[in-house]
Amino acid sequence: MSKIESILTESRVFEASENTQNQVALNATSIAQMYEKASKDHVGFWSDLAREKLVWSTPFTVGLDDSNAPHFEWFSDGELNVSYNCIDRHLATKSDKLAIIFEADDGSVDRYTYKELHDQVCRFANTLVSQGIQKGDRVVIYMPMIPQAVIAMQACARIGAIHSVVFGGFSAESLRDRIENAGAKLVITANAGRRGGKTIPLKQAVDEALEKGGDHVRKVIVFKRTNDDVPMQAGRDIDWYDAEAGMSNYHDPVMVNSEHPLFLLYTSGSTGKPKGVQHSTGGYLLNAHVTNEWMFDLSDNDVFWCTADVGWITGHTYVAYGPLSVGATILMFEGVPTYPDAGRFWKMCQDHGVTIFYTAPTAIRALMKFGAELPSQYDLSKLRILGTVGEPINPEAWIWYYNEIGGARCPVIDTWWQTETGAHMIAPFPVTPLKPGSCAKALPGIDAVILDEEGGALGTDEGGLLVIKKPWPSMIRNVWGDEARYQQTYFPLKDSVAGGETLYVVGDSAYQDKDGYFWILGRVDDVLNVSGHRLGTMEIESALVAHPKVAEAAVVSRPDDIKGEAISAFVVLNTGISHDETEREALVQELREWVAKEIGAIAKPSDIHFGSNLPKTRSGKIMRRLLKTLARGEEILQDTSTLEDPSVLEQFKKPKSL
Ligand code: WT7
Repeated sequence: MSKIESILTESRVFEASENTQNQVALNATSIAQMYEKASKDHVGFWSDLAREKLVWSTPFTVGLDDSNAPHFEWFSDGELNVSYNCIDRHLATKSDKLAIIFEADDGSVDRYTYKELHDQVCRFANTLVSQGIQKGDRVVIYMPMIPQAVIAMQACARIGAIHSVVFGGFSAESLRDRIENAGAKLVITANAGRRGGKTIPLKQAVDEALEKGGDHVRKVIVFKRTNDDVPMQAGRDIDWYDAEAGMSNYHDPVMVNSEHPLFLLYTSGSTGKPKGVQHSTGGYLLNAHVTNEWMFDLSDNDVFWCTADVGWITGHTYVAYGPLSVGATILMFEGVPTYPDAGRFWKMCQDHGVTIFYTAPTAIRALMKFGAELPSQYDLSKLRILGTVGEPINPEAWIWYYNEIGGARCPVIDTWWQTETGAHMIAPFPVTPLKPGSCAKALPGIDAVILDEEGGALGTDEGGLLVIKKPWPSMIRNVWGDEARYQQTYFPLKDSVAGGETLYVVGDSAYQDKDGYFWILGRVDDVLNVSGHRLGTMEIESALVAHPKVAEAAVVSRPDDIKGEAISAFVVLNTGISHDETEREALVQELREWVAKEIGAIAKPSDIHFGSNLPKTRSGKIMRRLLKTLARGEEILQDTSTLEDPSVLEQFKKPKSL
């Protein structure tokens, strides 16, 4: 049974345990009141929360400004600073409380109180200023999952610089694209990182990226994470600690307008290169703050572990910003879940007394394979809430997580959202009755509906486009440097901004059941979801055709037990290039490595099929649905009469894959 089929037949409901009901701040009544208030006064609801939850240096008087729709501004005459809200405001009451517990790949542990984090962030903020960085400048952060990554982000926020974190697994080429698109003045990196006992070079990729471009980058700050020496370019590269020498532990945070961009984060779309999703300051932080409270019941006494890397939006909202804004303790981990063995996550939950644990379905499925015996060796009794994100969770994995990790005691909070939404959009509260595989209902103040392709409403159990009808504070503000793409991608429906509506089109298909619960079915565009990471088919195709031996390529996904989706590539080689049995294996490896070099290891195709032509219609359009069928190794039952040359399918029928 496929994952989608198993979701479609799932009907169990799990009520919150009495323990959960007694423990959490928000009960069903207070949640109902929030929904009621939000539906009566959308802007007032968010504005009141913004006043209650955040500290403003200049209070706002305007809630929502939609005069430039579909660009929406929230709290736009107010001023605040994110770093002040995440750190300084807690100093009076909890300066000695732990902000960050860090466990390194080798198991060594480091801890930072709020006061220590404050001092480090201030020192680094002063360092950035001394290196010529000012409000509005772009700074690219390419770091391992270490506290210095969060310190760098917070320091940027403190001085009003706009950071763009690039996941350390992306290649030098991808890094260069992002540095150039953002017009970054400075790059912050580490000599290397450590993952699963291996050293991951990072500075080397920065050097490669800057060799062929990124001329606007004036300085590279290098944190020495390992003992490996890296070449330092005189005048450009500076050691983190050398740059910090003599810097004060105090920095007066720069108050910025609520709409000032806090960060850019690049994410794949169905066309072109990854786009720089631009987020705001006040609106972003508000949703980051409240969703940590609503979905995770996060408070003072919690140790919150979100396993996401800061290179992804989850690591922004649920590691670097949201939990600190709430004043909780976060756990950060440099390594991988299977090193030194597949009990690492569970051992760490035990050792650090983790109360809230948030991870991706792909990680759960991977660890599930090792059996329940591993987690049962550890004391997981402190856990009280579990979360998942990134892709639909199949009920089998949900039940395992619920029983074996949560001891049938902790709610599993399946959170649906996107890089562009900034924070959770559809998710249960801890007391919400849960249906495995469903992300439950849209949050208060989030107006989600299912529409058909023309924008018409659909009924219960009818699959269609997931659309958000009203603007919300943490929504994407723009695609950096590409206003047209912003409008085309997210507001493609006719009259999408008429009558005060937004009709923000998410790119997922979904349906709502009779209880109003949402069930996400997957992307409707050419975006793949591999291990919860988003990749554009076109990006991978462009990488493949850039290889000298490749003439044409088409990429589709096929279901994968652990990754959710696996990448299947169909490749036509240039004439004269042989792909006989004997050479095929080497060629497959060569192309996979090539894609890793062009994009990053996460984009490597799992299988590569070779043929002399791709199946195209007479007008030259590649018929992807046929390729999908072939990728699954299934019989083609579809009508192939529109194909220019139906015989091309024959050659792809025998999978020539790994
Ligand atoms: C896409 C967004 C949100 C942070 C991680 C991914 C899929 C995300 C869920 C979920 C079903 C999900 C959607 C979405 N997705 N969460 N709980 N259930 N699908 O962020 O890279 O921007 O990808 O991930 O398809 O559109 P992203």
